[in-house]
Amino acid sequence: MYDCHNRQINYLRVSVTDRCNFRCAYCMPEQGVPMLSHADILTYEELLRVIKVVSCHGVSKIRLTGGEPLVRKGIVNFIQNIAALKTITDISLTTNGSLLAGMAGELKAAGLNRVNISLDTVDPEQFRNITHGGNVFETLKGMETALAVGLVPVKLNVVLTNMITESDVAFFVNLVHREPVAVRFIEYMPIGESRVGPGPSIGEIKTMINSFGRGVLKPALNVQGNGPAKYFSLPQAKGTFGFITPISEHFCGLCNRIRLTADGKFKPCLLANKEVDVKAALRGGASDDDIAELFYQTIAHKPEGHTLTNPGKQTNFYRKMSQIGG
Ligand code: GTP
Ligand code: 5AD
Ligand code: SF4
Repeated sequence: MYDCHNRQINYLRVSVTDRCNFRCAYCMPEQGVPMLSHADILTYEELLRVIKVVSCHGVSKIRLTGGEPLVRKGIVNFIQNIAALKTITDISLTTNGSLLAGMAGELKAAGLNRVNISLDTVDPEQFRNITHGGNVFETLKGMETALAVGLVPVKLNVVLTNMITESDVAFFVNLVHREPVAVRFIEYMPIGESRVGPGPSIGEIKTMINSFGRGVLKPALNVQGNGPAKYFSLPQAKGTFGFITPISEHFCGLCNRIRLTADGKFKPCLLANKEVDVKAALRGGASDDDIAELFYQTIAHKPEGHTLTNPGKQTNFYRKMSQIGG
């Protein structure tokens, strides 16, 4: 399925819950956000129905997000049901990693292909501050277990804030040298209030990586994943580095995705308020064709690009990042 800007839409990001056991400083206010009630969020049956319908209209890649997707009960069984749809060829999950060590084996067995894990710093105290109480060792254990059970490639998401230090970057350089992980540095997107300040630029991070004596970054030849990251490698390293630049070099021209929020709205774009109500249709007796029609409407509403970097930029976002899933 192509949109009117000639972009192929084959990827649906499904937020299974708005709840999270962390409150990352760039994502959620310290006091949290009002949580949806159980009745407000789509049931797994409803989510599966939407996935099934869109998979008949060109979507073959599903990413499960949150809040934190692993806090929703029944997620393993849900993944098993998605995997049973032969039309879906890639099932991935974005997680804070805190519950991953205990679940990675069953997630893999259910049919999950791979995970992306948020890890913004490896300093235990800074990690606790940024996540509002998280334990970095649990997330690191989650990463190791994901590697051990084959939820690969494992990708780490590092949002660039003033909490990141040179020793974090040194840790990531050594990690990429010895493990087949992709460490991705992400420019912060200002879509809600943030309790952290701006971090180094992507250029500064690249210079730091190049200064640790493990060689110099070169563009990686193979494309990895379905997302906007641009990948680079270091000599003899088992892993790679990725850079996600929604601000300094946006990638809207290659956008291949739409989103489904936990409360049942299709979102044509992460950085736009437009939504299409699927829940009302699902609960009002809609046919599969009706749902497919909403999917087409959503694609028709995809803007050519976001306006965050425009002079009159959009700042009145209805949803926080945790209510969309990134
Ligand atoms: P793969 O490349 O398939 O592994 O996934 P991904 O990088 O798209 O997914 P992930 O959930 O790990 O997101 C990484 C970062 O990219 C997060 O900060 C997301 O908010 C951001 N991101 C994902 N999709 C978009 C998008 O369409 N627009 C923008 N501006 N940012 C996005
Ligand atoms: N800017 C950039 N990335 C963000 N994420 C959450 N909030 C932001 C933001 N404001 C990232 C998380 C997670 C992914 C889903 O989105 O780190 O890895
Ligand atoms: Fe939770 Fe993810 Fe937001 Fe952090 S970035 S508060 S882990 S939803």
